[in-house]
Order: sequence, then C-alpha cells, then structure tokens
Amino acid sequence: MNSDEIRQRYDRLAPWFDSIEGLLEGLMFRRLRKKLWSQVSGDHILEVGVGTGKNFGLYPTQARITAIDFSPNMLAQAARKRDRKHINVDLDLLDVQRLCYANNSFDTVIATFVFCSVPKPRKGLKEIHRVLKPGGQLLLLEHVISSNCILATLMNGINPLVVRLLGANINRDTVKNVQACGFRNIHIDPASSDMIKLIRAVK
Ligand SMILES: C[S@@+](CC[C@H](N)C(=O)[O-])C[C@H]1O[C@@H](n2cnc3c(N)ncnc32)[C@H](O)[C@@H]1O
Repeated sequence: MNSDEIRQRYDRLAPWFDSIEGLLEGLMFRRLRKKLWSQVSGDHILEVGVGTGKNFGLYPTQARITAIDFSPNMLAQAARKRDRKHINVDLDLLDVQRLCYANNSFDTVIATFVFCSVPKPRKGLKEIHRVLKPGGQLLLLEHVISSNCILATLMNGINPLVVRLLGANINRDTVKNVQACGFRNIHIDPASSDMIKLIRAVK
C-alpha cells in the first residue's frame, strides 16, 4: 500500500487507537516504552510517528522535543493530549520519508511501533540518519517478523490482510533495515523478545 492509503488507515483509526491498544499497552508495552525512553540523551529529541501521544508521559523535561506524524487525525489527537496535559512538544505534520529538517539537527531520534507502517522503511531510516548529529542515537521499539520459520511463514501469509485493515506490516525485519542504512553499534536490548525489539543504533 502507498503512503496515502496507510495515512488514511491511521486517520480512520485515530479516535479509537488508544482503546484498541489499551490491553496490550498495560500488559507489555508500557514497561518497554519506559526502558527505551530512559536511554534518551541530548538537548534536541525527535519523536517519529507520535500517534496519539502515548509517550508524552515519558518525555524528559529538560530537552527540547519535536514530534512528527503523517496522519492529520493522529496528530490532532496528540495535540489535544498535549494541551490537556501541558506537554512541552512541537508537533509537525511530516512524513519520515521526507523530513524538512537540516542535516545533523537532533541528538536522539526515537520511534515506537512506527516502522511497521512506514511504506518505504529504509527511506525513512536514511532520512533519520541524515537529520541525526554525528554520534547521535536512534532508539526504536518495534514488532518484527519471528525468527521461527513456521511463524514467519504464517506472518508473511496474513500480512496483506493486516496491512489492509490496520496499515501495519507484521513481517518487517527492522533490525536488518537499520543495519542497511548506515548506522553503527547496533544493540538489541536483552528486554527484547523474538517479535518485539528494542533497538539502539548510533550515527
Ligand atoms: C502504530 S502507530 C504508533 C503510534 C505511537 N508511536 C505509539 O507508540 O503509540 C504508528 C504511527 O506512525 C505513523 N506513521 C506511519 N508511517 C509514517 C510516516 N511515513 N511518517 C510519519 N508518521 C508515520 C502513523 O500515522 C501512526 O500514528
């Protein structure tokens, strides 16, 4: 599916997104989000694919934070939450595959559950590499294809249906994509599982 179609999926899901993911969030994701955000460093942070702003409570207070999303409706939810909770963040409607920021702008770029949906993930990761300062870090929390052949075959088989419904691919190999985009010191946190990875990489 192309960028417009994926964007439309998220525009449609936006009002229900927090309720749909509520159970998984409490059971698993919250702990992993905390772990990822505890590694953020530097003065200027970029959050890619902010969605409805689920990470707002984890933002470091001392840094300047910019957050982007390409879905106007998801970003509108985030803006409402920002205003309600008085979160200090600049929100920009942007596609990670075409960022308008200058080279070497950010100390950390972070994304949670985003690269399953970016239509051309390597294009997005190369843009992130461009806007990161030298020595800056990329932090990702992503679900990926299983290393188990039977599960992977199943995931590949049902992927077209899942993308059509939700706009997310369940068969991405995001670690491999990060490796292919010029990052170094790629580290998979031990808190990761077969299908949920916490990834840290350096420009
Ligand atoms: C599954 S949601 C995750 C939202 C949030 N990061 C979270 O952890 O709850 C994926 C988000 O990534 C955004 N997204 C997908 N592709 C994008 C792209 N190319 N550029 C910017 N945002 C994108 C979607 O609009 C959606 O808000």
